[in-house]
Amino acid sequence: MENRVQSLLMCRLPIVQGGLAYVGNGELAGAISRAGGFGQVGSAGRTPRQMLDEIDKAEISAAGAPFGVNLPLSEHSDREAYVEAILENAHRLRAVSLSAGNPRPYIERLKRAGLIVIALVSTPLQAQKAEASGADLLVAEGYEAGGHNGPGEWTTMALIPAVARAVKVPILAAGGIASGEGIVAALALGASGVQMGTRFVATKECVAHENYKKELIKRTADDTRVIERSRGRVTRVLQSAHVDDILKVEMRQHSEDELYAMVRGERNRMAAIGGVLEEGYVNCGQGVSLIYDVPTVEELFKRLMDEMQQASQRVCGIDARFF
Ligand SMILES: Cc1cc2nc3c(=O)[nH]c(=O)nc-3n(C[C@H](O)[C@H](O)[C@H](O)COP(=O)(O)O)c2cc1C
Repeated sequence: MENRVQSLLMCRLPIVQGGLAYVGNGELAGAISRAGGFGQVGSAGRTPRQMLDEIDKAEISAAGAPFGVNLPLSEHSDREAYVEAILENAHRLRAVSLSAGNPRPYIERLKRAGLIVIALVSTPLQAQKAEASGADLLVAEGYEAGGHNGPGEWTTMALIPAVARAVKVPILAAGGIASGEGIVAALALGASGVQMGTRFVATKECVAHENYKKELIKRTADDTRVIERSRGRVTRVLQSAHVDDILKVEMRQHSEDELYAMVRGERNRMAAIGGVLEEGYVNCGQGVSLIYDVPTVEELFKRLMDEMQQASQRVCGIDARFF
């Protein structure tokens, strides 16, 4: 039996890989789709040309399975160039996910090109607006998640059932999900699938630097920090010497330029791709506590399926005793 996410995205399993700035490479997106999930090429940290190069790689790696692309709107000052590139390549893509900004001005154009449009939301009100604007599918993301989160700081546990009651379109739960138990919980809360980010960074196919992957194994949720609150943003990252410096600057009077120099994308790239973690920052969600190895995507999917089965058996066991 197929649920609504499976039929919209044409994937066997409703497990979606979120756009991953700098580290969401084509090989990873393709491997996730090939394993039965739904991979997405990240456009953050890439020029439109580089995004298209990764789409080429995803196509090879996916071996015919459908995949998508992520467009974080506020990350691109020249976003029209990305939209144009996506529209020209719409026949190669199944979906586009719009995040970090108002998706409304783009939805109809992308849908007319035959793309499924996914919109990222962090409150029930945002979810209603995205649904009214024509989004086919929503990602509702709690602030346990790695990377940029909603300023309201809703947790996944509170957000998913509230969004599920507020809209009719299907939703993917995101934020802190890194195991099969988390997926079963998300389905119980009213989601039709999940979007995961941090867990996919620690896979063999991900282009993230080995130092980043090693830290994901070593660290726990205690080691995540939220930066950029002073500029109205919520960005969950892994603690580093540089992150401590950012937080010190945010505690005192500072200029926008001073802080921007510390949080700009280059600092993310040098840590995530260059491996110099102490002098930059990497995105990381609280689900890092559940990462203890670097499997291939295929191995990870097999494990997620086993964990889901055990978790549902536990839930059904409770069900049988209580009713
Ligand atoms: C390394 C990393 C980079 C991310 N970059 C983006 C991005 O460019 N665009 C976006 O919409 N979300 C981005 N996110 C958020 C993910 O797409 C996803 O929604 C989130 O990671 C889910 O929470 P989790 O990390 O707890 O699994 C990023 C997350 C991580 C961990």
